[in-house]
Amino acid sequence: MAGRLAARDAVVAERMDDPDCDPDRLARTYARFGLMNAVVAAPHGAYRRWIAPRLREGDVRLLDVGTGGADFPRAVCRWARRKPGRLDVLAIDPDPRAFAFAERVPPTPGLRVRRMDTTAVLASGERFDVVMSNHVLHHLSDDEATALMAETAQLLRPGGVVVHRDIERSRGAYVAFALGTLPVHPLLLRGTFLREDGLTSIRRSRTRAELAAIVPPGWRVERGRPARLEAVHEA
Ligand SMILES: C[S@@+](CC[C@H](N)C(=O)[O-])C[C@H]1O[C@@H](n2cnc3c(N)ncnc32)[C@H](O)[C@@H]1O
Repeated sequence: MAGRLAARDAVVAERMDDPDCDPDRLARTYARFGLMNAVVAAPHGAYRRWIAPRLREGDVRLLDVGTGGADFPRAVCRWARRKPGRLDVLAIDPDPRAFAFAERVPPTPGLRVRRMDTTAVLASGERFDVVMSNHVLHHLSDDEATALMAETAQLLRPGGVVVHRDIERSRGAYVAFALGTLPVHPLLLRGTFLREDGLTSIRRSRTRAELAAIVPPGWRVERGRPARLEAVHEA
């Protein structure tokens, strides 16, 4: 990879991570995460692969780490309605602004949203069949990401799985996002941080080799589409 995407840019910061960023713009950004994720993060594919097969066998307890506006867990609760197993979801985010937004959304049966980090969940004693995150690892330094992965592995019930999903940094992903969001930016993404932060996220994201170098022992890194990496640990 040539140019400024050749190395991970861990210094550039996303606007949404600035505690003093415009709160209205941030709220609009949370409100649009679902739309953006539907296009770039293949959430239904993640549900089909990691959650639906377990729901066919029985009840599932899911933890969504760094839930933001909680659109993924809400969608999963909808998709799971007709499955034989019961789905119980805990969605956590340590950022009070994300928590305040997610809490204002009308409640979804089976979903609890809490302002917590994984250390607090570990201390609570609650354990899960599936632990997931989306677009969280690139917000963290290598040491923080490794620590988060190790901690989430401790949150599993026997037979459980952790899947941390993120962007795979590449020139192609950057160009596709820049071009793909250009026409919708003035309308659908207006007043949000999504285009700017999306481009920054790609610069902060890791390649497969970079992620593989920081996963704890016993983990693997899978590649998905579009431009997806999954750090996976099975108990
Ligand atoms: C880009 S948002 C992604 C939100 C959501 N997962 C989605 O895909 O729409 C990243 C989220 O990760 C959260 N976050 C940052 N550091 C975290 C950490 N150490 N543990 C858990 N969540 C974290 C942030 O507060 C933010 O809400």
